[in-house]
Amino acid sequence: MKDFSFNLELIQLLSGGGFHSGEQLGEHFGVSRAAIARHIKSIQELGIDIYSVKGKGYRLEQPLDLMNQQLLRDQLCTPIEVIPVIDSTNQHMLNQKELPSGSVCVAEYQTQGRGRRGREWVSPFGTNIYYSMYWRLEAGLPAAMGISLVIGLALVDALEQLGVQGLKLKWPNDVYHNNKKLAGILVELSGQAGDAANLVIGIGLNVSMPEQVQGINQPWTSLKEISDKKHQRNDIVVVMTNALQSAISLYEQEGLQPFLAQWNQYDNFIDQPIKLIMGHKEVVGVCKGINQQGALLLDTGNEIEAFIGGEISVRSAS
Ligand code: BTN
Repeated sequence: MKDFSFNLELIQLLSGGGFHSGEQLGEHFGVSRAAIARHIKSIQELGIDIYSVKGKGYRLEQPLDLMNQQLLRDQLCTPIEVIPVIDSTNQHMLNQKELPSGSVCVAEYQTQGRGRRGREWVSPFGTNIYYSMYWRLEAGLPAAMGISLVIGLALVDALEQLGVQGLKLKWPNDVYHNNKKLAGILVELSGQAGDAANLVIGIGLNVSMPEQVQGINQPWTSLKEISDKKHQRNDIVVVMTNALQSAISLYEQEGLQPFLAQWNQYDNFIDQPIKLIMGHKEVVGVCKGINQQGALLLDTGNEIEAFIGGEISVRSAS
C-alpha cells in the first residue's frame, strides 16, 4: 500500500477548518503548489469533499472527526491500532500472527471492505467505523456458532449506552433502525476441530455516511440520521470495545442462555412473514425468533424449522 502519511497530515491540517491556500500549504510541507494540488486530488478520490475557492484556497466541506490512536490507547486496556487506509480491517487481523485476544484495529478507509456473502462494504473516509477485533475462543469452533448473535447484542448495548434508541436486530446480527441497516457484522474464523478458534470480528457501523454515497444496494441509515447527539467516533470505539469484551466473556462462561430472551426482544422480524435465502434455495415462513443454539426459527406452515449457518440471509417476504 502506498505511503499515506503525507495525505493524512494534509487531512489533519484541513480538519481544523477554514481555508488554506495552496501556497501556504506548500510552504508548510516544503513542496510545490502543484504537488499540493495532486495530493488534494488523491484525497478527494477517497470520498472526502474538499472544495477550492480562487484566491482563498482549499477547505473541507464538512469538519472531520478523525480517529485518535493515543486517545483510544489511553482509554482502553486492550491493544488498539488506528490505520488510516487499509484493504480490509478483517484481512489485516487475519494476516497477523500471535495477537493478544481482544486486540482491535480500526481504519478511516477500506479499499476492499467486505461484507457477508461476498458483498462489498462501502467504506468512505473518516465518516463511519470500520472495526475488527481478534478473539481466541478456547472452546473452539462449535462455540463460535452463537457468537455472532452475541456480538450484535453487544453492539446494540454499546449504542444504547450512547443514547441511541429504537434499535433492532436482523438475524443473525445486522443492526437495524426503522427497517434500515445501521451496522453489519462479519465474523471470520480459523481453527481446527478440538483446538481453540481464532475469530476476527468485523463491524461496520454507519456514523455519518455521506448522503451521495454510491454502491449500497439496500436501505441504510447512520447515527447522524437517527440520533440528536453528535457522536465522536473515538468515544463509540471505546464503548463498543468494552461492551464486546464483556459480552464475549459472559458467552464464554455461560453460553447463549443469558442472551436468548434479549435477542428475541430486539428481533426486527418476530412474527412477520420472511424469506430465507440459502444459496439458490429459498424458504418462506413466519419468523419465530431463535432457539437455544441461536438458529433462526421459521414457521413454514406445517412445522417450526430451525436454520443455522453463516450464509443464510433474511429478506422481507413482501
Ligand atoms: C455485512 O453486514 O455484510 C457485514 C459487514 C462487515 C463490515 C466490516 S467493516 C470492518 C470489517 N472489515 C471488513 O472488511 N469487513 C468488516
